[in-house]
Amino acid sequence: MKALLYKSATKQITGEAKALAFESFSRPVRIGLLGCGTVGTGVVKLLRKNADLLARKLGAPLKLVAVADRSLKPQPELGLTSSIIIRDPLELVARDDIDIVVELLGGREPARTAILKALASGKDVVTANKALLAEDGERIFRAAAEHQLAVGFEASVGGGVPIIRTLREALAGDRQRAVYGIVNGTCNYILTRMSEEGKEFSEVLKQAQRQGLAEADPTLDVEGHDAAHKLCILVTLAFGVLLKPKQVYTQGITALEPQDIACARELGFAVKLLAIAKEDNGAIEARVHPTMTPVSHLLSSVKGAFNAIYIQSEALGSSMYFGLGAGQMPTASAVVADILEIARRRLTATRLVASPLGYPVQTLRAAPVKPIEEIVCQYYLRFMAADQPGVLGKIASILGRHRISIASVIQRERATVGAVPVIMRTHEAREKNLRMALREIQRLSVVKAPPVFIRIEENL
Ligand code: HSE
Repeated sequence: MKALLYKSATKQITGEAKALAFESFSRPVRIGLLGCGTVGTGVVKLLRKNADLLARKLGAPLKLVAVADRSLKPQPELGLTSSIIIRDPLELVARDDIDIVVELLGGREPARTAILKALASGKDVVTANKALLAEDGERIFRAAAEHQLAVGFEASVGGGVPIIRTLREALAGDRQRAVYGIVNGTCNYILTRMSEEGKEFSEVLKQAQRQGLAEADPTLDVEGHDAAHKLCILVTLAFGVLLKPKQVYTQGITALEPQDIACARELGFAVKLLAIAKEDNGAIEARVHPTMTPVSHLLSSVKGAFNAIYIQSEALGSSMYFGLGAGQMPTASAVVADILEIARRRLTATRLVASPLGYPVQTLRAAPVKPIEEIVCQYYLRFMAADQPGVLGKIASILGRHRISIASVIQRERATVGAVPVIMRTHEAREKNLRMALREIQRLSVVKAPPVFIRIEENL
């Protein structure tokens, strides 16, 4: 029976090696899946399609024994028969015939309770739930350490891009200086189309929703919250610091106008929603906002729904990790890789993934977070001003009084009516000073609309 079951897995193995391979196959590692939506279905497909390959890599088969989903209908062609489908996630985690629970429910509850119960009853966990890990990660990883169990979360940041393992393992010998992430595919897709087609945000969003490339409720994505959740996880791995989403300055892309994206390009910059984290003398700078990056920089070439995480490390220098950050199969590939890694450890003596966050959870610290007013960077500014003598001088003099030095100015042609755009790029300035200057400039009678500003990261 065993030989029949794993015939194709071992058909390339001959002679003695074949006998050894058969001997090494042990009982299946049993998987329970919570939530069978887009990514869950991808996991089911991948476990089925790659069953032989995974069994060969593991030395044992991976067996999906139960799926808990509120509305899933049987799909026998995927092995999703009515005998393995149940409705209640808490019933699934209480079963004693499951080794690894894969949580793909999303959201806070019942995902949090299900994960904690799974760990309490001796099951390892794989999750893609960045919102939950950003808010409750400490509680979950403490429970995992206490029970000596693993939590795999590669799919929580960057989808299929292996950034969690990279930070935890490949870059572990080094000290990280800064992380710059394009970690929301929806925003990157919208910004790419706004830039290439000159269209308004709302128009591109509607088209993306019609094509299934943006959620019906896109708030988490376009307001930057999804990127902030992912940044919290990256900050812990990069700097050993616990950070909550409310500590991340978060500004989405909804207010961006195509004219600013076009002007940015004229100045030699692309506009990206970046999740940025830096460590500065023990303090953490963590922010998500539209950012101008030099067009020649690798991050600027990341188009459409792709993600990229660019890391500056002390010994290595710069490195970038690129790929699809969303979608059924890319995300499923990261989930299945976590399942495989944990299953391998289950089959050997080393059950626990030591320090899944890169640091023992009890050594993680809270660090002071730099208020956004204290950051220093360059800025792109646009003022809608009356086209008359002295206007430029008035604006420049207020900026000068607040110690903001202008690097370049573009003034657009005279408009038929009303105001003309005056575009400025500043040298490095403190944000507090910039905000004070902009408040003052807005009060000038010659300035006809609230000033627009976009932060520039030039030296990355
Ligand atoms: N909604 C996310 C994105 C994918 O658009 O990148 C899941 O993290």
